Amino acid sequence: MNRRQFITASLTAAVAGFGAAVSSSDAQPAVEARKPMKILVLTGSPRKNGNSATLAAQFIKGAEEAGHAVTRFDAALKNVHPCIACNSCGMDGPCVFQDDFQFVREHIVPADLVAFATPMYYFGFSSQLKAVLDRFYAINGSIHTPKKAVLLMTYADSSARKEQPLQAHYEMLLDYLGWTDAGRVIAPGVWPAGAVSGTAYPQKAYELGRSL
Ligand SMILES: Cc1cc2nc3c(=O)[nH]c(=O)nc-3n(C[C@H](O)[C@H](O)[C@H](O)COP(=O)(O)O)c2cc1C
Repeated sequence: MNRRQFITASLTAAVAGFGAAVSSSDAQPAVEARKPMKILVLTGSPRKNGNSATLAAQFIKGAEEAGHAVTRFDAALKNVHPCIACNSCGMDGPCVFQDDFQFVREHIVPADLVAFATPMYYFGFSSQLKAVLDRFYAINGSIHTPKKAVLLMTYADSSARKEQPLQAHYEMLLDYLGWTDAGRVIAPGVWPAGAVSGTAYPQKAYELGRSL
């Protein structure tokens, strides 16, 4: 091997080695290296073992395995009165209703990430979860802080067009609050409770949680 051949061979090996080291384009940072986050999961279905609850559970499993501290609030199983627009809170103060929203107030302000898990109800969030969103009014001044967000959504139809209103709502909410989308799992074609279990979406929700 002459000098030129040696240099060429060495460069080729070096490039190949370097390429091998970085070729895994989806390589995730080691779980240990990531900063633990406070995560608040807000669910919206009244079905305890429903499809969106399954996605939420898998997302939580992944996030906890990744070292994050997860708190869950099942809006449909709690008492959250709809906002009555009395403006007593002044958009950042005590609410006239001393109900279960107090739990959300305590956990959402320090949260690094908020996950919304909802069935699609008439092209939007479930009313139970929407009641929680509307009560953000009383903490509006405290939640315009940088946070990440996740959307987990299930629905019976399988038309991307029909997903658009809920996805647009989510995007506008994040835009308004200054939050950043950290990922979505949208599961179409699931109607009865449990239907999502036969699909790839629970695994996607798990992987999303694990990847944070
Ligand atoms: C009140 C109500 C409204 C619904 N609206 C829609 C809809 O607009 N589009 C759709 O595809 N599915 C709709 N569905 C079906 C649910 O989105 C679907 O069954 C979903 O997977 C339920 O999730 P869950 O098991 O977490 O409750 C509706 C169901 C209910 C009960």
